[in-house]
Amino acid sequence: MMPLLGKIAQAALMALEPETAHRLTLAAVARAPLPAPAPDPASLRVNAFGLSFPNPVGMAAGFDKNAEVPDALLRLGFGFAECGTLTPLAQAGNPRPRVFRLAQDTALINRLGFNNEGHAAALARLSFRAWKAAGPVGVNVGANKDASDRVADYVLGVRTFAGVADYLAINISSPNTPGLRDLQQGKALDDLLARVLEARDGESAAHGRKPVLLKIAPDVSLTELDDIVRVARARKIDGLIVSNTTLSRPGTLRAKDMAKEQGGLSGAPLFALSTRVLAQTFVRVEKQFPLIGVGGIASAENAFDKIAAGASLVQLYSALVFKGRDLIGGIKRGLAARMAAEGIADVAALTGRDAARWAVA
Ligand code: FNR
Repeated sequence: MMPLLGKIAQAALMALEPETAHRLTLAAVARAPLPAPAPDPASLRVNAFGLSFPNPVGMAAGFDKNAEVPDALLRLGFGFAECGTLTPLAQAGNPRPRVFRLAQDTALINRLGFNNEGHAAALARLSFRAWKAAGPVGVNVGANKDASDRVADYVLGVRTFAGVADYLAINISSPNTPGLRDLQQGKALDDLLARVLEARDGESAAHGRKPVLLKIAPDVSLTELDDIVRVARARKIDGLIVSNTTLSRPGTLRAKDMAKEQGGLSGAPLFALSTRVLAQTFVRVEKQFPLIGVGGIASAENAFDKIAAGASLVQLYSALVFKGRDLIGGIKRGLAARMAAEGIADVAALTGRDAARWAVA
């Protein structure tokens, strides 16, 4: 789905069915002889969750669901890469078509439904990374659609990947597995985090203490967000990822027919909503742990605003589909230049600067 290899390839890929284009892109990324990326400026370095990131721009979950290309993504210049979502058993996901491009809106709608090869295949790949590139690799875990005990699937994910992941992301915010988002509710979330963090602690002696992050939806009320943050703080989670795709359909969408497709909306139209929820989260978290901001980033300005709204790190996916690999370097250069122009020494100094304003935007 991602036109990574030049403008002509990009035009060709955009003519293909989105999932076919994605498969081709993954194959190209896996085979391309990528040189080591140029070193990032010191101002872009971030320390968070006990990990060091060469720059704050990460590949969001869903692009490399099966952990096929994390090192290639780092070589393309990402500061970190998140694989998954992975479920214990392989599953096919929803019937096709299930990914739609809203080209006029630089947006996507997907209802993939956690199609993935399962834990074992990804674990094998992550255990035998031929050449490890610099930069953290996270593993995002989920639950099988038919699981009788969904929490047990997350626990298994943490135990399975604690030895190979730099951090673990608990995805309870996909809109495409019915009922999954109910795990965001107070009591259910408390139970989930208790069991997941206990599993993590159980693995710490063998693998070191791996940070556990929770990925939430942008479609939460302020009361629900109060609850999520209260539970996350009480359980001492390592961080939150804000946000996944939205079930809402902003009135500004131009691809009206496509907008009727069921699934999660991502890309430019998600920016305002996800950045507001990020800022509202930042205000509630009171610096007890860092946040990763994701949703609609397509430029250096967007990345700057996301950080100013409360993110210590950012991630993106949809914009790459439309803009290609040059976007990564462009965002990093633009971000460093604007920080220098404004006299901001590093990303940490910008994090949350404008949270109060974004929280009411
Ligand atoms: C996603 N996203 C996603 N998130 C996740 O936690 N697990 C997943 O498996 C997926 N899968 C997935 C597939 C596709 C095709 C898309 C477009 C997105 C959500 C993604 O990580 C991110 O949170 C949102 O897409 C918002 O960021 P962008 O795309 O607006 O930059």
